[in-house]
Amino acid sequence: MSGVACCVFGRGFAMTSSAPAPCHPPRPAGDAAPVIEVADLVKVYGTGDNAVTALRGVSFAIRQGEFVSIMGQSGSGKSTLLHVLACLHRPTGGRYLFEGRAIEELDDRELSALRGRRIGMVFQRFNLLPAENIMVNAELPLVYARVAPAERRRRSTAALSAMGLGERLEHLPTQLSGGQLQRAAIARALVADPAVILADEPTGNLDSESGRLVMGIFRSLHRMGRTVIQVTHDREKAIYADRILHIKDGRLDREETVENPVQEMAAGIDLSYLAHEADGEDDGA
Ligand SMILES: Nc1ncnc2c1ncn2[C@@H]1O[C@H](COP(=O)(O)OP(=O)(O)OP(=O)(O)O)[C@@H](O)[C@H]1O
Ligand SMILES: [Mg+2]
Repeated sequence: MSGVACCVFGRGFAMTSSAPAPCHPPRPAGDAAPVIEVADLVKVYGTGDNAVTALRGVSFAIRQGEFVSIMGQSGSGKSTLLHVLACLHRPTGGRYLFEGRAIEELDDRELSALRGRRIGMVFQRFNLLPAENIMVNAELPLVYARVAPAERRRRSTAALSAMGLGERLEHLPTQLSGGQLQRAAIARALVADPAVILADEPTGNLDSESGRLVMGIFRSLHRMGRTVIQVTHDREKAIYADRILHIKDGRLDREETVENPVQEMAAGIDLSYLAHEADGEDDGA
């Protein structure tokens, strides 16, 4: 971790986390710009007697091109944190800067445009539409981004072919194995060429070989300069990343640098269609 000014983020707001985390935000080494900065992040579900506080003041920063794992016990707030980072949930308190932009200042339309262009999400249960074939599923982010149909088809075909699913484009999710489903879901996450890939227990429903392949894909994406953040319960998977954020009871408990991350790439997966460096595309709002 590089030495940084104590308790100050790049944009100049103060860090006053109540978490028992070190005063220094856990920043990675290197000169890359932070892509994600959160300070005192709070998330409360519900109100009154039914209120559940899932995040209790979480602060950290993740630089462009980092591969980070998030670990913690069940119920500690990992999925909540990932959903906030994905701009699927708004935080109840604290600050979130994505590529330097304050999320709380964006309206819903701007937030959804940012999510569609810059963030790809992968889920444990794949979250594919069951009645649609995987080509249509993989196109969905481009529909929201208002890409023309022919271009959508071209890009979803390229993304699925890169995942070894070129022969399965018209298959429904029910006709595919778990590993194939997750590769289709990764194709969907990558189809808009996002800068940041967020994955919530992406190997949780997979056999070990398919799980290794998924991790190899993430490692390849990381090598190509994409930022990858995954939640996992499995330490063997966590150490594909360079850094692990340990969450406990809605707080950042500690940060761990992985000394020798697993370098294994995914054999047979050709991501060269994404090979250009993630650009600094504007927000499109
Ligand atoms: N939609 C919701 N409404 C109310 N409470 C919720 C909601 N989603 C999560 N919670 C609560 O917030 C807390 C954190 O949940 P979260 O799903 O983030 O945990 P997690 O670390 O991902 O757990 P797991 O490892 O089991 O997936 C839990 O107490 C959970 O019950
Ligand atoms: Mg979870």
